[in-house]
Amino acid sequence: MVTGKLMKLGQRLGCVLALSVLALVLWSVPGTKALDNGLAMTPTMGWLHWERFMCNVDCTEEPDSCISEQLFMQMADLMVSDGWKDAGYQYLCIDDCWMAPTRDSKGRLQADPERFPGGIHHLANYVHSKGLKLGIYADVGQKTCAGYPGSFGYYDIDAKTFADWEVDLLKFDGCFCDSVKHLADGYKHMSLALNRTGRSIVYSCEWPLYLWPFHKPNYTEIRQYCNHWRNFGDIFDSWQSVKGILDWSSSNQDTIVDVAGPGGWNDPDMLVIGNFGLSWDQQVTQMALWAIMAAPLLMSNDLRHISPQAKALLQDKDVIAINQDILGKQGYLLRKEDKFEVWERPLSNLAWAVAIRSLREIGGPHSHTISVATLGRAAACNPACLITQLLPVKKELGLFEWTSALKMQINPTGTVLVRIKK
Ligand code: GLA
Repeated sequence: MVTGKLMKLGQRLGCVLALSVLALVLWSVPGTKALDNGLAMTPTMGWLHWERFMCNVDCTEEPDSCISEQLFMQMADLMVSDGWKDAGYQYLCIDDCWMAPTRDSKGRLQADPERFPGGIHHLANYVHSKGLKLGIYADVGQKTCAGYPGSFGYYDIDAKTFADWEVDLLKFDGCFCDSVKHLADGYKHMSLALNRTGRSIVYSCEWPLYLWPFHKPNYTEIRQYCNHWRNFGDIFDSWQSVKGILDWSSSNQDTIVDVAGPGGWNDPDMLVIGNFGLSWDQQVTQMALWAIMAAPLLMSNDLRHISPQAKALLQDKDVIAINQDILGKQGYLLRKEDKFEVWERPLSNLAWAVAIRSLREIGGPHSHTISVATLGRAAACNPACLITQLLPVKKELGLFEWTSALKMQINPTGTVLVRIKK
């Protein structure tokens, strides 16, 4: 009996020891320590008003596109009725220009009374009644980028206000901050203040974007405070802009890829699919590469006027599944060859996603052949694999052996996205 008890104690101690060692190992793996709010275990999906609607506050001249509660209520209705919510787009997010020009008598932010007559709490209730979540915007400095009241000196009050309004996400911008120290202190302060409210609020930062002009950001630290973070300038509705973000991301991948994971993601900014500036192939490229990069999928478009083709692309279940893969590893540029880029991303169950992007901007479809042996750290197709093309159209490409070659036709500026299964 005594021996049995001792053995059990020994086993338990052994177990505790093993668990502690495991915990230590997990702790020391880079990128595992994320903001401890249990949110954004996969990249956030939703809609954000900025790129499409910007700071339009003229509801007299443009009642349908000004920043108002009506705009958000209409988008909430469509997110449910048109399948966006079912596809995973859950967060309906307000950007800059929602505020009144001054705080109230108690120092609290307030919504513009003309454009948001019901106030933000009322809007949050409406959005929640649809099964969606509401995002809001504020700024770490003296003013928001568009000149509305900043949160500097008001972090605790603002966090409490957002929690009282039952907001679910905060995009925290970095304009009008007078020093790198205030920037860092402010981003950290707001993170802790949000956590202290006890409400689950996704914290979307622009901290590294505003740090880069001064020094290389400490991403390990940023990940401890933010659920996602912008690294690069604002996206525009143009191919040049999307290309610039892709080029920045691949040039800096040694710094940014490993830090991403469940709870904390690099944010290459909004999806502009469904707007005016990108050709069909370029929209495919944005969707494919945002999936490879494990990017938050925050659309900025007008859900009231969107082509069936853009809608189908944004709601593509297979591509969204890659973006949301639970392994949570960000993809990277594997190599550049002959005017093509090959990107890959490890997925759960030893699967891989591979995107082949054409850098050509002249001529017609061009064929490119890659040997499958090189993909997925030389393991994806060893000894054989099944390859399914997901974009630009879905088709089964069949079984490939390790020595096989994969030949594809890719349109200028376009991308072919495939999923590889052992
Ligand atoms: C900055 C941000 C944008 C947007 C605007 C709003 O430029 O990077 O995403 O929020 O401010 O003024």
